[in-house]
Amino acid sequence: MQITGNTVFIPGATSGIGLALARRLHAAGNTVIIGGRRTELLESIAADEPGLHTVRIDTADPASIEAAAKQVIAEHPELNVLITMAGVMRGEDWTGPDFVATAEEIITTNVLGPIRLIGAFIEQLRSRPDATIMTVSSGLAFTPLRVTPTYNASKAAIHMLSESIRLQLADTGVRVVELVPPAVRTSLMPGQEESDFAMPLDAFADEVMGLIESQPDATEIQVENVKFLRYAEVRGEYDQTVAMLNRLDPH
Ligand SMILES: NC(=O)c1ccc[n+]([C@@H]2O[C@H](COP(=O)([O-])OP(=O)(O)OC[C@H]3O[C@@H](n4cnc5c(N)ncnc54)[C@H](OP(=O)(O)O)[C@@H]3O)[C@@H](O)[C@H]2O)c1
Repeated sequence: MQITGNTVFIPGATSGIGLALARRLHAAGNTVIIGGRRTELLESIAADEPGLHTVRIDTADPASIEAAAKQVIAEHPELNVLITMAGVMRGEDWTGPDFVATAEEIITTNVLGPIRLIGAFIEQLRSRPDATIMTVSSGLAFTPLRVTPTYNASKAAIHMLSESIRLQLADTGVRVVELVPPAVRTSLMPGQEESDFAMPLDAFADEVMGLIESQPDATEIQVENVKFLRYAEVRGEYDQTVAMLNRLDPH
């Protein structure tokens, strides 16, 4: 995607990576609409940064997705970029019976959410001459963290969905770009904002903006820190990387 001149909707930008990218995309000359459930954050972010638009959306709720999509498209008919950022990460213990509800919650938000969002926006995106769907996977889609089985699987699903819908949309004006973050200091998991293992948020967001600008045709946005997970198997170092990652696991 081009770094400037777009109208971008980011459901999942009340905090963390989504908000950091929203601020930078806005500063780079894009119209940006951020979404999330926490209305108090949406209001304070909008008050802080004039020109940033907001919409309340719960991406775990199909009716909320439909309503927000209608509103965003009506207010911003030039919308050409959707970033399916909203996601949750939870630890699970699959040695006991209590993980199923957690697993269902993760799949609803991390997999059904992006699917429903893309469904709600695909006609709009196809109507634009140059459009982008940016999905958000994780280094954990490629090398698993022991404590978060369903999260890892949800991100592997996002990777393969991205690969597959890119093939279907190849003859349209809609590009599919997968953002593959490493561990980044956000509030995604308890303790993550202080984790030495995770990358500082600003450094990550700056590197992502640099990659979007220098590689407008990239199909994956990979900062340097994610490559040891992304390419562990390709390097022939999968078992060692799994072992190392899970010893380093700060949770
Ligand atoms: N930080 C990392 O280490 C890392 C690594 C790889 C991938 N990622 C991915 O990056 C994305 C952003 O995470 P983050 O690290 O920035 O964490 P974060 O600060 O917790 O941000 C998560 C965002 O998702 C939104 N969200 C969650 N559930 C939602 C729902 N049902 N409806 C609408 N919005 C929802 C939250 O907004 P509300 O609470 O206001 O709804 C928030 O804006 C996630 O997909 C995550 O899996 C993060």
